[in-house]
Amino acid sequence: MVRHFLNLTDYSADDIRRLLQLARQLKKVWSSGGNRPILKGKTLGMVFQKPSLRTRVSFEMGMRHLGGDALYISPNEVGLGRRESVADVSRVLSGYVDGIMARVFAHEQILELARHSRVPVINGLSDDVHPCQAMADMLTLMERFTEVRGRTVAFIGDGNNTAVSLMQICAKLGVDFAIASPDGYALPEKAVAAARKDAEAAGSRIRMVREPDQAALAADVLYTDAWVSMGQEEEAGKREKAFAGYQVNAALMKKAKPDAVVLHCLPAHRGKEITDDVMDGPQSLVFPEAENRLHAQKAILADLLAPGA
Ligand code: CP
Ligand code: NVA
Repeated sequence: MVRHFLNLTDYSADDIRRLLQLARQLKKVWSSGGNRPILKGKTLGMVFQKPSLRTRVSFEMGMRHLGGDALYISPNEVGLGRRESVADVSRVLSGYVDGIMARVFAHEQILELARHSRVPVINGLSDDVHPCQAMADMLTLMERFTEVRGRTVAFIGDGNNTAVSLMQICAKLGVDFAIASPDGYALPEKAVAAARKDAEAAGSRIRMVREPDQAALAADVLYTDAWVSMGQEEEAGKREKAFAGYQVNAALMKKAKPDAVVLHCLPAHRGKEITDDVMDGPQSLVFPEAENRLHAQKAILADLLAPGA
């Protein structure tokens, strides 16, 4: 059976720890000037229905670092589900490449790609989840805190794809997770219920609150993301009203622990969900976090395309 990387719910806590350990090893090798060509001769097809900087470049560079190659396929070329059915795209593409990374709107499309693919499929973000991002986030927190178990991550804002995957990885690894969202923008109940089971097993908690202060209080990490995600542009006016006040700024930082760090998956909307002083300040790990996408991606690629190498 072909293994995929579609959603963190498919991975056990041990799998995730093993992948993060591999990411750390690959980062160490890379920073001492070398990369083992474990993906020599392998190719990755990258299908994008939405724009990207980090996901596209980190996957492409990740493949090159490991001796392989990657092909960017733009939204207009494939017309996933419009020009051709998702199933047929998958059947054809998986005959050409050794792995597929896709960024889609409907989560069902990534599942459909995986169902019909003969090669591993990686979810580079869907409307529901952003698992590759959560891996880089946790890698960043492990570098900072060494032991993440018992720490608290506070997410301020929309219960969106980024928040769901972050909650899932926290739950699996025994990290407390708190989220403050306005009415109507809470995390999906089903995702919360599943993550609560993982959190219980790992001895941690998931809290959903209304006010940013309640989530930020004594937190080790403040995390935020766009108020308006890709594909929600028509709701921008309504969302900006609902999220006013859900901003990571200097006042909110004061509620968190004095040595708390700040994360953001990027792209950031400075002056909206995060202020310049916080994003560029001494507690921000936003850019190391973005760099860690590369190392996390390499671990996922190595694990799926060259297991055991
Ligand atoms: N964080 C993230 O996924 O960035 P991109 O949308 O630029 O890939
Ligand atoms: N929630 C954002 C994440 C971007 C990386 C979006 O889906 O647009």
